[in-house]
Amino acid sequence: MEFSDRLKNLPPQFFATLVQKVAKAVAEGRDVINLGQGNPDQPTPDHIVQALSSAAQSPLSHKYSPFRGINELKQAAVDFYSREYDVNIDPNKEVAVLFGTKIGLVELPLAMMNEKELMLLPDPGYPDYLSGVGLANVQFDTMPLLEENAFLPDYKQLTPDQKEAARLMYLNYPNNPTGASATLEFFQETVELAKENDIAIVHDFAYGGIGFDGKKPISFLQAKGAKEVGIEMYTLSKTYNMAGWRVGFAVGNSKMIEAINIIQDHLFVSLFPAIQSAAAEALNGSQECVEELVALYEKRRNTFIEACRKIGWNVKAPEGSFFAWLPVPNGYTSEQFADILLEKADVAVAAGNGFGKHGEGYVRIGLLVDEDRLIEAVDRIEKLELF
Ligand SMILES: Cc1ncc(COP(=O)(O)O)c(C=O)c1O
Repeated sequence: MEFSDRLKNLPPQFFATLVQKVAKAVAEGRDVINLGQGNPDQPTPDHIVQALSSAAQSPLSHKYSPFRGINELKQAAVDFYSREYDVNIDPNKEVAVLFGTKIGLVELPLAMMNEKELMLLPDPGYPDYLSGVGLANVQFDTMPLLEENAFLPDYKQLTPDQKEAARLMYLNYPNNPTGASATLEFFQETVELAKENDIAIVHDFAYGGIGFDGKKPISFLQAKGAKEVGIEMYTLSKTYNMAGWRVGFAVGNSKMIEAINIIQDHLFVSLFPAIQSAAAEALNGSQECVEELVALYEKRRNTFIEACRKIGWNVKAPEGSFFAWLPVPNGYTSEQFADILLEKADVAVAAGNGFGKHGEGYVRIGLLVDEDRLIEAVDRIEKLELF
């Protein structure tokens, strides 16, 4: 049997190779410190699990959900944006409930673009953006995120043809993989560019809950006029350690929200209602768990960065997200360096080129193991005498 051209179009999952390499090393009995992946290590806070448990008892949860999600969750998203970002959202027209944001990011090119039209993506960037490109059979150009520009795209580098052709642009701050954050000025510049060139903007706010040094990450919707040109995707996976639950939402421009809702009307009957109720509890309940989580990641970040600098590895501290983006030593490619760390130190990291051409020269680590394991990882790397 033959697969469709659409399926054959899909890019290989770069990180599947890393998962295999790590699994092989573990199967050989090696004590691998896995800093390669982005799976939160802490449990979902108890009050959210309790909310699921009691909502699961209700017969209302056993029926089909309304197609476009339950009002309780949409209202919770509205209240969350009002409380956290002082942004007003209409629960009826400006919220779409998602099975995690990965699905929304993959759906949008299908919902808003015709084949061969152009979208703009950050490089380095979250590899799953390319899944939407492949399924919708659209073209993409990349916007380099360079250290000298604080890992923000330089819109002056876009050609008139690119600006004319682009229909959709993805951005993501705090950024995976670089850990950089955005400024309000940058988002304002983005709104102006979008208005002048009729480009729809999607801000992927996956790490919106995780900012360090007392700096709360900025929402794209805080920029003036943002709702006229774009939406923001918010996931509960990271802020509330709910990656396995598959729940998130998109808020903003009503046309783009409608596009997502129409495609979802044909694909799903929304999420298990009890998960939606628990998600509403996460967004509206006590936020102490978020403060504790950010403090935990910040402590790990400080410990890790200090240890790296002590061995002569000149690394920058991330401003948000739970990743650190580290330069590889001279003479190695990202992949060679990642392979050496796994083979000789039993430390797994993600090679930067997996996130795009401009990720070459870096590796990404996740701050998703305890501090003592982070220190041990750096101790093992020190013994390789590469710095
Ligand atoms: C930048 C970014 N966007 C989106 C996602 C998807 O998150 P989810 O589908 O769990 O909402 C991730 C997950 O790792 C991510 O790193």
